[in-house]
Amino acid sequence: MNGRDGGFRGATGTAAVLTGLGAWLPPRRVTNDDLCARLDTSDEWIRERIGIAERRLAAPDVSTGDMAVEAAARAMASAGVDAVDALLVATSSPDHPCPATAPWVAHRLGLPQVAAFDIAAGCSGFVHACAVAAGLIASGAARRVLVVGAETMSAMVDPDDRATAPIFGDGAGAAVFEADSPHAEGALGPVVWGSDGSLADAIVVPAGGARGRHERAGAPQGDFFVHMRGNEVFRHAVRRMTHAAREAAARAGWRIDEVDRLIAHQANLRINLAVADALGIPADQVPSNIRDVGNTAAASVPLLLADACDKGELKPGHKVLLVSFGSGLAWAATTLVWPAGLAPRL
Ligand code: COA
Repeated sequence: MNGRDGGFRGATGTAAVLTGLGAWLPPRRVTNDDLCARLDTSDEWIRERIGIAERRLAAPDVSTGDMAVEAAARAMASAGVDAVDALLVATSSPDHPCPATAPWVAHRLGLPQVAAFDIAAGCSGFVHACAVAAGLIASGAARRVLVVGAETMSAMVDPDDRATAPIFGDGAGAAVFEADSPHAEGALGPVVWGSDGSLADAIVVPAGGARGRHERAGAPQGDFFVHMRGNEVFRHAVRRMTHAAREAAARAGWRIDEVDRLIAHQANLRINLAVADALGIPADQVPSNIRDVGNTAAASVPLLLADACDKGELKPGHKVLLVSFGSGLAWAATTLVWPAGLAPRL
């Protein structure tokens, strides 16, 4: 399953086929002007440098697991199913350091004793989880997998840090994948993924984990929030996403000029336009919702898929290239042909 053999179309010849999509966003909208009341920034700077106009923030009593339940229930309704063999929750803002959030989400969904676990791959988590779902299905370990990306990033960012607070938002998106032919529309294609732990400190929450636990009592409050070297992350994001997307298309047997839509993690509009430009994909084939929801980390790709499908920007038969990038550093890309009859529940 290293991609060199063409991805997960392995022993059984069974692929993971997208059959349902769900999304949930908290109702509270926070505009750039709202942030300016607290931060030394401006609406103009945030729109021009990141592409965000507003983001949704969860109420204090709403957690990642709560949002995951909402999106997952919608995805199951969209797929018309009431049971799954495995539930994966991609998140970098779990409800607790221990246990994982997924078993509680399964419990709330009325899926007792189903295999349920979290995937921590930062903003790349959802595409990573899709790859794991594809592997579970290809191996025969599961025939139907529910994949959720859910984040309460507002719990992770320092509201007084202008380098991170304007970027992130909260929300959840989910997808159902079912075993079918690799030739079926909606089948996930080969996966290209990787990591670079030498840059683990480029996006990091310094405190609260096992490393440095002895100093925890004296750790400054800011060490419990995300620290990011934005400029450096930007450059790596463009390079890694471009390479992974190009490789995934090639392994699927697609020329880049055959790609109808590039669905990229919504970290910064300029990152995605740079990736599209490097690949040679026109900007009008790159759907985006960052303007309205910000960077929702692991929730970003499923939220964008649901939004773009709902708006008719993803049409049956479209060749879709998915690519993501985030802390770790970690990145992943894959392909699918957009299936007919998919109706996301928002
Ligand atoms: N408002 C106003 N000015 C700001 C600002 C803000 N919110 N944040 C930074 N600035 C200032 C800086 O202080 C700096 O000023 P200086 O030139 O006087 O020193 C200037 O803007 C440029 O800073 P820089 O960090 O180089 O900006 P940038 O163009 O790289 O944009 C990010 C910053 C964070 C938006 C951008 O680097 C980015 O999006 N990085 C990737 C983020 C990401 O993908 N994160 C999640 C991983 S998926």
